[in-house]
Amino acid sequence: MTFAGKQAIVTGAGSGIGAALCRALAAAGAEVLCTDIDGEAAARTADAIGARSARLDVTDATAVQAAVDEVVARAGRLDLMFNNAGIVWGGDTELLTLDQWNAIIDINIRGVVHGVAAAYPQMIKQGHGHIVNTASMAGLTAAGQLTSYVMSKHAVVGMSLALRSEAAARGVGVLVVCPSAVETPILDKGAVGGFVGRDYFLTGQGVKTAYNADKLAHDTLRAVERNKAVLVKPRRAHAQWLFARLAPGLMQRLSMRFVAQQRAGQRAGTTAGGPGPG
Ligand SMILES: NC(=O)c1ccc[n+]([C@@H]2O[C@H](COP(=O)([O-])OP(=O)(O)OC[C@H]3O[C@@H](n4cnc5c(N)ncnc54)[C@H](O)[C@@H]3O)[C@@H](O)[C@H]2O)c1
Repeated sequence: MTFAGKQAIVTGAGSGIGAALCRALAAAGAEVLCTDIDGEAAARTADAIGARSARLDVTDATAVQAAVDEVVARAGRLDLMFNNAGIVWGGDTELLTLDQWNAIIDINIRGVVHGVAAAYPQMIKQGHGHIVNTASMAGLTAAGQLTSYVMSKHAVVGMSLALRSEAAARGVGVLVVCPSAVETPILDKGAVGGFVGRDYFLTGQGVKTAYNADKLAHDTLRAVERNKAVLVKPRRAHAQWLFARLAPGLMQRLSMRFVAQQRAGQRAGTTAGGPGPG
């Protein structure tokens, strides 16, 4: 597959991984519609690469459909749909409000559903296309204090793999992207109680620095070219994923110990050490 001239939509394109995906797509010759609930941030991403942008809230199914329709009306097709927008809540689950639960369901799960519901029928009609859903390692493993996020990302992984198995016969590819910590603003967002996301994610992975978003975007385009089902990055995250499947009981015990360490650090206002389960 070549990306030259391909029509793509990216959600959550105003920051982090979404912005990096837009840069990688533009560099590979694709025409990208950069979208984000923060319209100005989407415009900044688009301006830097000479692309178009739109304010788009993925919780608004009608608006997501309108974005797909606009690209199809203009270009005659939509080749690539990147359902990437997402949020996180980190901290003890009893502290989450129902509004926070609903927000993560609406953005991380329904947002992806809206992208698929809008793009997939069009891709079936044209006989080709690729859907790329950004999940997370949290969609493959289950770390405590990230319960709502883990729930939402498991939903995205399950949906993507199931869709992939029925979409192939219609000419449509599906990739789910499952990175562990990537250096983006999300590492410092969504803290509930004394949770310190950056410490949690980096310590949990046993790394000092998070993966680079532009590298992940590059990896993602390669995975689309190879029609891979799941992209796990960085390499060490593969080992954690394998470990979680081979020794789920041990993984659960490590997760409990890690959460206890994190909680102690959060109570003390410091950060807890020790590698976690990822
Ligand atoms: N950075 C990481 O460590 C990491 C790891 C695994 C998975 N992810 C996933 O990658 C995706 C992108 O996250 P990121 O790290 O770039 O974070 P980010 O916070 O830098 O970017 C997320 C973008 O999504 C946008 N957004 C939020 N709500 C939206 C909505 N309702 N409609 C449209 N846009 C909305 C935000 O405005 C922001 O621009 C998310 O799905 C996240 O869960 C991130």
